Amino acid sequence: MDINYWNKVAVNYESEIFDVYATNKGAVLQKYLQKHTNKNHIAIDFGCGVGKAFSILSPGFKKVLALDISQVCIQTSTALKKANNYANVSLKRMDLSRKKLQLPACDFAVCVNVVMLPALDKNKAIIANIYKTLKPGGHAVFVVPSLESGIFATQRLIDWYGKDGTKPEEISNSDFLHIPKSKLEMVQGLIRIDMEPTKHYLHVELLSLFAEAGFQVTSIEKLEYPWTTEFQAPPSWMQEPYPWDWMIECKK
Ligand SMILES: C[S@@+](CC[C@H](N)C(=O)[O-])C[C@H]1O[C@@H](n2cnc3c(N)ncnc32)[C@H](O)[C@@H]1O
Repeated sequence: MDINYWNKVAVNYESEIFDVYATNKGAVLQKYLQKHTNKNHIAIDFGCGVGKAFSILSPGFKKVLALDISQVCIQTSTALKKANNYANVSLKRMDLSRKKLQLPACDFAVCVNVVMLPALDKNKAIIANIYKTLKPGGHAVFVVPSLESGIFATQRLIDWYGKDGTKPEEISNSDFLHIPKSKLEMVQGLIRIDMEPTKHYLHVELLSLFAEAGFQVTSIEKLEYPWTTEFQAPPSWMQEPYPWDWMIECKK
């Protein structure tokens, strides 16, 4: 998941990258972003992708800075800015895991499905950079993959096979390609998404990770998605609980 990876997937962004904004049930993420809007405040979108947050951030804040490592994402979101006349949005290509970033102090930070890199130190570095950039009293909203959800979705798959009379040990390995390859990867929460090892977090892990970074966690909520995000044609009995990401709201 380096710059080449993100530039490559960014070319076919809509089909390659999961759209949290369009898919989260009840638009819970949008409600949290909306809650923090303030026309006197500065917001930064850390890892902005193709600008899915701009429609809330641009009208909601005085200034918005959108950052991403991928030049292709920056080009696409610049086009979105121009097409929608988001005059208060400025964009910059930047590796957010680097030390000593030159960024303006902000009141609000949003970081959706970015701190999920397999290089675990980089995720911590990005969280530390966001903390440094926030003004005291400033808020941040993060979204990260859930390890509990990744395991639960696999249990549902086993249940599904079970209903057809297939025992767990009879299920083909090709259905478990997302499962961590080693004990270490398992405890590190590295479940594969589209074959890429992707950091997934436990609820309890998030509490200590954000506290250690200096944040006060004000809320951790599930962002739920339909089962079609996990399986092409899920059976009708597969309803609640739905798969989810963790959304963390925190304060400096
Ligand atoms: C899954 S996408 C999410 C994009 C956007 N936040 C959204 O929700 O639509 C992850 C984004 O993080 C960016 N990214 C990954 N590593 C990064 C890094 N080290 N510095 C800055 N951006 C990074 C990628 O280029 C990509 O646009």
